[in-house]
Amino acid sequence: AEIMKGSFEHFMQKEIYEQPESVINTMRGRINFDTKEITLGGLKQYLTTIRRCRRMVLVACGTSYHSCLAVRQVFEELTEIPVSVELASDFLDRRTPIFRDDVCVFLSQSGETADTILALRYSMERGALCLGVVNTVGSTISRETHCGIHINAGPEIGVASTKAYTSQYIALLMMAVQLSEDRLSKLERRQQLIDGLHDLPSQIKKVLQSDETLTMLAKGMIDQRSLLIMGRGYQYSTCLEGALKIKEISYMHSEGILAGELKHGPLALIDENMPVILVMTQDSFYPKVQSALMQITARKGLPIIICNEGDKSLTENYKTIQVPKSVDALQGLLNVVPLQLLSYHLAVGRGYDVDFPRNLAKSVTVE
Ligand code: G6P
Repeated sequence: AEIMKGSFEHFMQKEIYEQPESVINTMRGRINFDTKEITLGGLKQYLTTIRRCRRMVLVACGTSYHSCLAVRQVFEELTEIPVSVELASDFLDRRTPIFRDDVCVFLSQSGETADTILALRYSMERGALCLGVVNTVGSTISRETHCGIHINAGPEIGVASTKAYTSQYIALLMMAVQLSEDRLSKLERRQQLIDGLHDLPSQIKKVLQSDETLTMLAKGMIDQRSLLIMGRGYQYSTCLEGALKIKEISYMHSEGILAGELKHGPLALIDENMPVILVMTQDSFYPKVQSALMQITARKGLPIIICNEGDKSLTENYKTIQVPKSVDALQGLLNVVPLQLLSYHLAVGRGYDVDFPRNLAKSVTVE
């Protein structure tokens, strides 16, 4: 195991740093960047059926669930199919109505998560077309689904999932793009996304260069009890995933908060002592996040802001973490990386076992 970590201290750190390559491996052989076309071999025979479905239900647990939330909006925009996103345990608890003309997609890094497998069997029994999006070839979910996509991120050892998140996100995005290929009206949007995916690996590399800044930030926060991460739109999933990383390995309380819900409760937590990270990259929701920023500063809150490079109104007035600009629906693939690094440094700084956090397992094979 020591050899496999190479020059890295922990598997999690190695896996965070692998992302410029793991995202390429997810796209390899599937995206033609010249013709701007996407072909997912695993879905070929089922494209017409999927396009005709009444709705899509994405089912997962943990980080895999967050990757579903991350793509939901662009998925609906491209395919015009209603998409719902479900936590596997809750999907089962509610005995969610599932029909023959539904398409259910099960996302799992391991392909062995008990709740997700049970949700798959439940949906199979009701006659839905069942797809798997998994990392582990030959896993239960990849064997029991009708068809699907392997994300090809390579083995993930650290309990806190990192590179699987970015690869699942891209796999779902590629699926949405391919499904929309019969719609001429979405041509430009497809091309914009494919160009965005092309630039992604080098942009992730650039984000990784802020590691030192994040080490310092983590040092400054090491004794905090709590950390709120806020954003909205495409970035809500980034906030949830960032907060999950921090909880999992640094054992610090952290919450991802939808900025639009601020005034419905969380605002009561804000004062000069509550640590807040605001995800505020430039997309159509920017003005709305700006008003969240005003609400926070009006209560003497001092947020750290994840923003795009060169956003002077923020960089000159706040403590910021700068990331390159991508396409709105892809920006989360960059914004999540500083949060992965921050959680890593918080855990190391607090002296915890980053790769094997207490009470957690890489793959939860019991209900
Ligand atoms: C466990 C792991 C998480 C993971 C979740 C879902 O809780 O600790 O990191 O996100 O299971 O795992 P899966 O393999 O189904 O993606």
